[in-house]
Amino acid sequence: MTEDLIVSTAEGTMEIRFNRPEKKNALTRAMYAGVVDAFASAEQDPAVRAILLTGTGDTFTSGNDISDFQRRAEARNDSAASPFLTALSTLTKPLVAAVNGAAIGVGTTMLAHCDLIVAARSARFVMPFTRLGLVPEAGSSLLFPQLLGHQKAAALLLLGDTLTAEDALAAGFVYQVVDDAALMDAARALTRRIAILPPQAIRETKHLMRRGKPDLTGRIAEELVLFRERLHSPEAAEAFAAFMEKRAPDFSRFG
Ligand code: COA
Repeated sequence: MTEDLIVSTAEGTMEIRFNRPEKKNALTRAMYAGVVDAFASAEQDPAVRAILLTGTGDTFTSGNDISDFQRRAEARNDSAASPFLTALSTLTKPLVAAVNGAAIGVGTTMLAHCDLIVAARSARFVMPFTRLGLVPEAGSSLLFPQLLGHQKAAALLLLGDTLTAEDALAAGFVYQVVDDAALMDAARALTRRIAILPPQAIRETKHLMRRGKPDLTGRIAEELVLFRERLHSPEAAEAFAAFMEKRAPDFSRFG
């Protein structure tokens, strides 16, 4: 288990915390694997009735580690995010997120799989996939148009616009917005509220609510095929290099 992920259990709940604040909680292979393990142990443990996901510091997560993207593109490694997305999208136990700041890329797309989201007032949601020469993942190309309507989803997924906490509340993307200092108390109280409810009724209700999205697994797989292709594209290479070199990307040479 990596130190960049903290997993703890208390009062019928499991808390999973991205803990790499010096890199804005950018997700490494070890962190994805740690979340997959934590979900598996929660699924097997009847004492865990609900799971809470959050991050340390001022960022929920800045998404996939971009230097990891670069290494994968070079080594043609398989995606560490793929088992994570499978575990996330098939999780049977209720999942709450406490969004403590920016949620970028998969940081936002993973939230579409959470059952309830509490956002700090400073939270913001960004999916800069196209700017990175990539395509959306985690079923977001299906879920976001359904959740927010085509125009809002296009602004987020095509343009990479930012959704503020208040916008997200107005759009029905989050359950609650609270002051930053009140975030963890509010999110833990909500997670404990779920944890004392009848667990089978909760699981079956979650399952029924998901059945409205029958093609989600297929879409996640379809997105991943394209995502892997894009990861090796010259456009993505330019975007990743620009980020690491702290300069603006130049896409003018691409047709
Ligand atoms: N992958 C790898 N490193 C990342 C990262 C990521 N996704 N996000 C942040 N970091 C690193 C930065 O390179 C920097 O490292 P350094 O201290 O060694 O230079 C450190 O984390 C702090 O980030 P910085 O950009 O200086 O902080 P900021 O407050 O100015 O901006 C963000 C924070 C999150 C807005 C900005 O880092 C960002 O846009 N990150 C990339 C987000 C992204 O595109 N994710 C991929 C989505 S698919």
